[in-house]
Amino acid sequence: MKIWGSLLLLRLFFLIFTLNTLVSATDHIVGANKGWNPGINYTLWSNNQTFYVGDFISFRYQKNQYNVFQVNQTGYDNCTIEGAVGNWSSGKDFIFLNKTKRYYFICGTGGCFNGMKVSIVVHPLPSPPTASVANTHHHLSQKSAAQKVFRSSLLVSSGALMAVVSLASIWF
Ligand SMILES: *[C@@H]1O[C@H](CO)[C@@H](O)[C@H](O)[C@H]1NC(C)=O
Ligand SMILES: *[C@@H]1O[C@H](CO)[C@@H](O)[C@H](O)[C@H]1NC(C)=O
Ligand SMILES: *[C@@H]1O[C@H](CO)[C@@H](O)[C@H](O)[C@H]1NC(C)=O
Ligand SMILES: *[C@@H]1O[C@H](CO)[C@@H](O)[C@H](O)[C@H]1NC(C)=O
Ligand SMILES: *[C@@H]1O[C@H](CO)[C@@H](O)[C@H](O)[C@H]1NC(C)=O
Ligand SMILES: *[C@@H]1O[C@H](CO)[C@@H](O)[C@H](O)[C@H]1NC(C)=O
Repeated sequence: MKIWGSLLLLRLFFLIFTLNTLVSATDHIVGANKGWNPGINYTLWSNNQTFYVGDFISFRYQKNQYNVFQVNQTGYDNCTIEGAVGNWSSGKDFIFLNKTKRYYFICGTGGCFNGMKVSIVVHPLPSPPTASVANTHHHLSQKSAAQKVFRSSLLVSSGALMAVVSLASIWF
């Protein structure tokens, strides 16, 4: 029982650690606190954001009044929804950005003519500095040394955690 308990805690500990390092997707709320509404310059908004593959873009608006269409450049320039790639209308739409490309979104209920259009560029994830030039070797070994230090401190702290857990289970 004691061993299972501490193993479980240990696993939880590592799970949280892994989740923290792996899950870093951003949700870009279109228009921030102004949401998806007429009369807003969404070019200014998108210029102030950096989109990466795996991020979300989300639209918040009055349901039934507005909606969201993913279109191509012609649709964006002319406010037309012919050949739209997708459409959303829940009032709180999350769209997963899984491709490195330029995306175009417009409102399909006429709001596009009043500025409800946004175009964004999705960038590839910044790659770790591994595949660079040969003289990055120094950096690399420094980095792995740092990682080793980090890892052993992690082991120390999980060891401490286990000790505390076993002590606790002896006492209670
Ligand atoms: C929005 O802002 C951009 C960047 O300043 C500008 O180029 C564009 O003309 C503006 N659009 C509208 C509709 O005002
Ligand atoms: C740009 O982003 C910063 C930080 O996210 C924010 O404080 C600022 O208000 C934004 N500017 C505009 C014009 O949206
Ligand atoms: C749509 O916009 C494009 C530019 O992207 C333009 O060349 C074309 O004439 C427009 N088409 C219509 C039907 O307005
Ligand atoms: C956008 O889609 C429409 C309809 O399918 C098509 O006629 C048009 O050529 C496309 N525009 C671009 C820039 O791909
Ligand atoms: C909206 O998307 C649905 C599928 O999700 C499609 O059946 C429908 O035709 C689309 N509506 C328009 C107006 O493109
Ligand atoms: C991106 O997501 C769309 C819709 O969710 C899906 O159809 C497409 O296959 C995905 N593409 C990649 C490269 O994962």
